[in-house]
Amino acid sequence: MQLFIDTADLDQIRTAYSWGTVDGVTTNPSHIAAAGGDPDELLAQIFSLVDGPVSVETVSLEADGIVREGRAIAALHRNAVVKVPVTVEGLKAVKRLAAESIHTNVTVCFSPLQAYLAAKSGATYISPFVHRTDLAGGDGLQLLRDIRAVYTRYGYATKILAASIRTAKEVQEALLAGADVVTAPFDILEGLYRHSLTDTVIARFLGDWKQVPPTRLFAEENLARYE
Ligand code: E4P
Repeated sequence: MQLFIDTADLDQIRTAYSWGTVDGVTTNPSHIAAAGGDPDELLAQIFSLVDGPVSVETVSLEADGIVREGRAIAALHRNAVVKVPVTVEGLKAVKRLAAESIHTNVTVCFSPLQAYLAAKSGATYISPFVHRTDLAGGDGLQLLRDIRAVYTRYGYATKILAASIRTAKEVQEALLAGADVVTAPFDILEGLYRHSLTDTVIARFLGDWKQVPPTRLFAEENLARYE
């Protein structure tokens, strides 16, 4: 399963990529607005930082406009993925973009039926909004499982990209539900590394290590930490 970072913040993208576990980026109009500055320059910098899929969202509401914007996004970089909301016009555009071999990420999905229609239209990714489904009284993780069941049963190759993630537990549950990708904000991704017991056990090991005589195994600067 791949991990994407859900942001347009360059520092966050740079740091997350340095970990070696992040595979791509999803942006949306709100992320680009929050990052500020010149959007063209911002996107150019994101593409230069990232060796993986970068979703950029269209803003037109009718198919012709979405196709035009999609072509412009695709021309930015070979890793560009055109993000399109799951509407009638959006899916008409997705079908046309797919015919031109342009990768798409169908977004703002809240039902297995929408995911089914997106797959039929040739979407590369479908983005079910997990946490927002829960906030609206639904079950975001069940939504992922249902989409997985439909895609597996009918052999759709569209990848399930779990979006609108707010907790580490949702990332874990998305893994178990069979998502192909999870996109999450920086703080959630960073939190995936942490567990209080890990810190406790490391502290105990390092405490015990102080009693071990010097070894040639480690560089002097490392040994100095324990003196
Ligand atoms: C995903 O691609 C979206 O950018 C993102 O997950 C939106 O979710 P949110 O607005 O609930 O954070």
